[in-house]
Amino acid sequence: GLKFGRDRDGLNFEPVQPNTLDAVVVPKGYQQDVVIRWGDAVLSDAPKFDFDNQTAAAQAKQFGYNNDFCGLVPLPGWNRWLMVSNHEYSSEEFMFKNWDANNPTEEQVKIAWAAHGLSVVQVERDHRSGKLVVSKDKRRYNRRITLTTPFEMRGPAADSKYLKTSADPSGKVVLGTQNNCAGGVTPWGTILSGEENFNQYFANGDLVTDATAKARNARYGIRGTASTRKWERFDKRFDLTQEPNEANRFGWVVEIDPLDPTSTPVKHTALGRFKHEGANVIVARNGRVVAYMGDDERFDYMYKFVTDECYMPGSSKRAREHNKRLLDSGTLYVAKFTGDSPASEIDGTGKLPSDGEFDGSGQWIPLAHNDRSFVPGFTAEEVYIFTRLAADKVSPTKMDRPEDVEPSLRNRRVYAALTNNTDRGKPGKEGATEVSPRLGNKHGHVLELEERHSDNTATTFSWKLLLVCGDPNDPGTYFGGYDKGQVSPISCPDNVAFDSRGNLWISTDGNALKSNDGIFAVPVEGRHRGFVKQFLTVPIGGEACGPVIEDDFVLVSVQHPGEIDGASANNPLSHWPDGGTSQPRPSVAVVWRKDRRKICD
Ligand code: FEO
Ligand code: CA
Ligand code: CA
Ligand code: CA
Repeated sequence: GLKFGRDRDGLNFEPVQPNTLDAVVVPKGYQQDVVIRWGDAVLSDAPKFDFDNQTAAAQAKQFGYNNDFCGLVPLPGWNRWLMVSNHEYSSEEFMFKNWDANNPTEEQVKIAWAAHGLSVVQVERDHRSGKLVVSKDKRRYNRRITLTTPFEMRGPAADSKYLKTSADPSGKVVLGTQNNCAGGVTPWGTILSGEENFNQYFANGDLVTDATAKARNARYGIRGTASTRKWERFDKRFDLTQEPNEANRFGWVVEIDPLDPTSTPVKHTALGRFKHEGANVIVARNGRVVAYMGDDERFDYMYKFVTDECYMPGSSKRAREHNKRLLDSGTLYVAKFTGDSPASEIDGTGKLPSDGEFDGSGQWIPLAHNDRSFVPGFTAEEVYIFTRLAADKVSPTKMDRPEDVEPSLRNRRVYAALTNNTDRGKPGKEGATEVSPRLGNKHGHVLELEERHSDNTATTFSWKLLLVCGDPNDPGTYFGGYDKGQVSPISCPDNVAFDSRGNLWISTDGNALKSNDGIFAVPVEGRHRGFVKQFLTVPIGGEACGPVIEDDFVLVSVQHPGEIDGASANNPLSHWPDGGTSQPRPSVAVVWRKDRRKICD
């Protein structure tokens, strides 16, 4: 068998093998349990979940559907946190029996609105069992945010004409958030969450008569006539022919303060509008805060935002109020990557160039700073609201679907999951480059970016690919130079996280190697750099999201368990987590060691 040497990375677990089980599979010596599932109570007066008798009123008090990002904000005292989950989208054919996509009922639509958004849930460690559990009768902070919760538009474009609607002539109050995918926890204890595939909720993009507005919508994928979910039948704001600006009010990074349950959540115009996967921040050495972001679409871009003001340490009211304003002003940049090997050495298979690395340099191209635009032909508010179109003008690098882009607080480098791009090299599309080296990229790659002098506010950087994912037996893969005979196969990296030792943890979405998705750990320093090991797999049809890596437990969001071909609520093919003949339910699960030692020991 394989020997797993002890190293400072502390990753001593035996890897989980690829499988297609309907279970969360964890390494030997570990155990797992469900923390909270779709429909479980969030608010104290939530009714008990009843799959066959759902109501919008009940859902608005219960844990929402398809939890993706998960973050923990510590509460004073030991072992208590506010757990914040994104509810990215609703899967109606799994939520309702006899679902008729052409004729949703008003109640079904309103259940879906309530199933979107975020949940804030107080959790604590149960010392006897080792489980992480929802705190009982301590629901002061618990909160549901849905598609009807008022948000405040903030930052330089907040009063834009492009954000005004008949229901909101101010342009500053938006109802709800949608398609919240990944996110991050800020040093000041708030949550940033990305509004990603917001385009799908808006109807009649093809019928918009203003050609400029129509083209702008199209760049965001807002096209067609009736929407998939038909929400426009029940609220005209989802019909672009009736409310042409409503779609401009989605596609933002939102900030939630879970420590203040009465706070109004914010949409940050300064961070631009695109299909935001998420946002993760680091305090640069000079005190300014830098947010890294991906626009998750084939051939779209990576961005960063640098604040004007400096982070104020501490948890005083004054410090928190200051820090909660940091993302209102600063500079928005888009990334351009240049390879250092001759283009002739990038053959599209993933074969390494002669210098042995996919690597090079890059620059952050400024798009706007507060009221000032750096993009010819675009006002600043146009840069912020139509960011994709503004970025197109400055020739940034077209990436293979940038998902999480997250700085390591240990080494200040930035790690980006480029999940896949099967269109790379198709007719009329860009071919292989050093930063996107595979044609028809099925398995994705992980990029490591180091800012000049490790200054996260710098405008130039160096980069290399840490992983070129896939089956390690495939010659077109790369595992940081590590012995490929020892690594776990990995495909479609989506979310990234770090443990306190600085190891990178990766969750996957869409594993193209015929195994369930899962979570992997990989050292980025030392002699085990690139030694990818699978830590867990999620149930069949599920996506592994959110991972939270605490010293002595791991949280995984299991999104859309059982979503496989031919399955539906009438024919569930997963029964996770409740077993028997039950319907699958998206849930957060916790994993810990039976001997209660640290994960990295
Ligand atoms: Fe919702 Fe980019 O994944
Ligand atoms: Ca090179
Ligand atoms: Ca994602
Ligand atoms: Ca994804």
